[in-house]
Amino acid sequence: MSLLNKRTLEDIDVSGKRVFVRCDFNVPLKDGVITSDKRIVASLPTIQYLLQHGAKVILSSHLGRPKGAVDPQFSLAPVAKRLSELLGQDVKMASDVVGESANALAASLQNGEAMLIENVRFEPGETKNDPELAKKFAAMADIFVNDAFGSAHRAHASTAGIANYIPAVCGYLIQKEIEFIGGALENPKRPLVAILGGAKVSDKIGVITNLLDKVDTLIVGGGMAYTFFAAKGWNVGTSICERDKIDLALQILDSAEKKGVKFLLPIDNRIGTEYKEDTEWRDIDSDNIPDGWMGLDIGPKTEALFAEAIKGAGTVIWNGPMGVSEWDNFAGGTIAVATAVAESGAISIIGGGDSTAAVQKLGFADKMTHISTGGGASLEFLEGKALPGIVALNDKD
Ligand code: 3PG
Repeated sequence: MSLLNKRTLEDIDVSGKRVFVRCDFNVPLKDGVITSDKRIVASLPTIQYLLQHGAKVILSSHLGRPKGAVDPQFSLAPVAKRLSELLGQDVKMASDVVGESANALAASLQNGEAMLIENVRFEPGETKNDPELAKKFAAMADIFVNDAFGSAHRAHASTAGIANYIPAVCGYLIQKEIEFIGGALENPKRPLVAILGGAKVSDKIGVITNLLDKVDTLIVGGGMAYTFFAAKGWNVGTSICERDKIDLALQILDSAEKKGVKFLLPIDNRIGTEYKEDTEWRDIDSDNIPDGWMGLDIGPKTEALFAEAIKGAGTVIWNGPMGVSEWDNFAGGTIAVATAVAESGAISIIGGGDSTAAVQKLGFADKMTHISTGGGASLEFLEGKALPGIVALNDKD
């Protein structure tokens, strides 16, 4: 049974209809060149379905965070070019969002043709979810398809507001993300092992709280581990540590014990004297970090401990690096976790930029069951929050 009770592409007739599709084309750019087209590629199944079924396809997205005004560095023009290459057909680029150019292009579209409007965040009403802007988007089309999973946690005019005015369904990418992440949370093959990393406990409180009710094992690495060390009364030296979250860390440890969740923290760490790529380093047990030293990665004993827990998993959810993974000397923990997940044979769901980058760099992407296209959105989903861009869509009958 599908986890999604929202109408999908297959619940509607799109032939000859103008379809406004919200994608997440928020891709990394360097000097105007797209450095990863992962999000564009992920949007292709929906776009191709619409084109093949004779729809007139009006594509939209945000890119970066322009402040409600035109800012050429955030133009979607490079995306239109890349889309045209990937689709093997011209994707016409409008020079505005809801102005003359966008409306004229939308009116001239033939069945099976596609266009892209400019960055929706060039309009001040977008992030305010302004109904007037949402109505302008809706006026361009007969149907709204939301396929922007990465932006589904935003209640903006093009992700949620537009759904108030025309029939609104979800695309294949949103469907896929919900099936995989939701499936791992609601009906996992056990044991369910979650691995959380990243710098701060405060960024992941909601995720930890929600996951404690669902997982068999929770593995915590990365900078956030040192707040737990401090909660245990261990010296953390100059490691990143949220002192105001120590009570919370204690409550989490207590709650894990009461719920029978195995809670694994690093037993050793790679520490350095400075937050610097080439700092002097050594490996040391977790209860023994000296003054003047900071934890920058998990240590080799921990790599083995975590790998053993991952090996027996039925399902793994991983979000966040184990150390400063962009620096070679402190990337080992994240690489070890990526390797263990890839070799585990478990259903594996990966979220977050650094974990995804590690998996891709190591060539393990094909070994993972699902790599989420959402950063903030996948975290909020793991927190158990309702995502406004999905809530806004029409329910199935
Ligand atoms: C992302 O990259 O996580 C999404 O595209 C959302 O971007 P935002 O945080 O600027 O809304």
